[in-house]
Amino acid sequence: MSLGNKKLRYGIIGSGMMGREHIRNLLAIDNCEVVAISDTNAPSRAKSVELINGAVQFSDHREMLSTQDLDVVIIATPNHTHLDLLNDVLETGLHVLVEKPLCTTVDDCLLAIDRDRQTHRDGRVVWVGLEYRYMAPTARLLSEVNLGTCGKVQMVAIREHRFPFLEKIDNWNRFTSNTGGTLVEKCCHFFDVMGLIAQSRAVRVFASGDQDVNHLDETYDGKRSDILDNAFVIVDYQNGVRGMLDLSMFAEGSKNEQEISVVGSNAKLEALITESKIRIGLRVNGATGVEEIVVEQPRGVVAGFHAGASYLEHLAMQRAIRTGQPSLVTLQDGLNSVAVGQAAHLSIVQKRVVEISELFI
Ligand SMILES: NC(=O)c1ccc[n+]([C@@H]2O[C@H](COP(=O)([O-])OP(=O)(O)OC[C@H]3O[C@@H](n4cnc5c(N)ncnc54)[C@H](O)[C@@H]3O)[C@@H](O)[C@H]2O)c1
Repeated sequence: MSLGNKKLRYGIIGSGMMGREHIRNLLAIDNCEVVAISDTNAPSRAKSVELINGAVQFSDHREMLSTQDLDVVIIATPNHTHLDLLNDVLETGLHVLVEKPLCTTVDDCLLAIDRDRQTHRDGRVVWVGLEYRYMAPTARLLSEVNLGTCGKVQMVAIREHRFPFLEKIDNWNRFTSNTGGTLVEKCCHFFDVMGLIAQSRAVRVFASGDQDVNHLDETYDGKRSDILDNAFVIVDYQNGVRGMLDLSMFAEGSKNEQEISVVGSNAKLEALITESKIRIGLRVNGATGVEEIVVEQPRGVVAGFHAGASYLEHLAMQRAIRTGQPSLVTLQDGLNSVAVGQAAHLSIVQKRVVEISELFI
């Protein structure tokens, strides 16, 4: 089912903030077009139709799927809707990108993986929107790790210090039941990158965190928002690598929204995401020998909210679709990243170490 040089026809389910980021990036890529959008919210539909003249609008994705001639579908709806929508798209056999987190729980991710197997089509690309791995400095750091620059990787630390969650349609992101919790919703990106650096499976997690500053006085339909806004998460990997995530969502005064450090037997590598730099410090060269390299964005990148990563994600997915190659960001990657986030959330609630295997019983 590879599509060679055909002009790819996209349908978008969910045209809120992220759906529109996808639309903007697809508009900047040759040989593809967004022909239909489906959103249950009229203002979201109107905003995306402003971007794409001529796209057909739907309020029900099933009508879009059954009436439109599509090649690729993007699901960019709230997290708790992903499983049902993905099931419907998988039935059609179309290529699909489902936004991160794949689902809000490990159980639902496993159901999605089952459904993919049951509806298998040769050459169908099913891709999860974990695009942080395509951010230029992160991609450069990953390539240095793969080249062996730091020797045997031992420690990975990722810091995200940023602004609070933005407002979303119907405030879906204010509740753990809709998002899977901050450590699933937001941090699945970082557990994905951490796993790629560790090159191993996470086996256990210990975390401390809380909702200390943000959204404390927000209630919706009488329910108070319950979103964690800071945490430290420690992850043990099967191969002995140790990972740590340091998350603060009330740190607007931070020069870099994300920083990654990797320490191995030969060197320390760092990625400073907002400054778009990496540092390479070989142990033999000491502190004065640390090399700082500015990482240029690849040509043609549309920055959007994610430093060009969504654009590069689409190029990579389209290459897979056109050449009949498998997805590079799989449902299994989606599951792995949700599992660490869910384990971290459970660790915070129950104040104990959580084995990843507990989530698969
Ligand atoms: N990959 C990333 O970096 C990244 C960044 C932001 C958001 N996201 C993900 O994208 C998804 C959407 O987030 P957002 O920030 O765009 O939220 P949003 O609230 O801005 O938009 C969601 C849209 O989905 C629509 N919707 C809800 N149920 C629907 C249904 N059944 N059918 C069609 N439309 C429906 C809503 O009306 C809304 O317009 C979430 O899963 C989020 O985690 C990913």
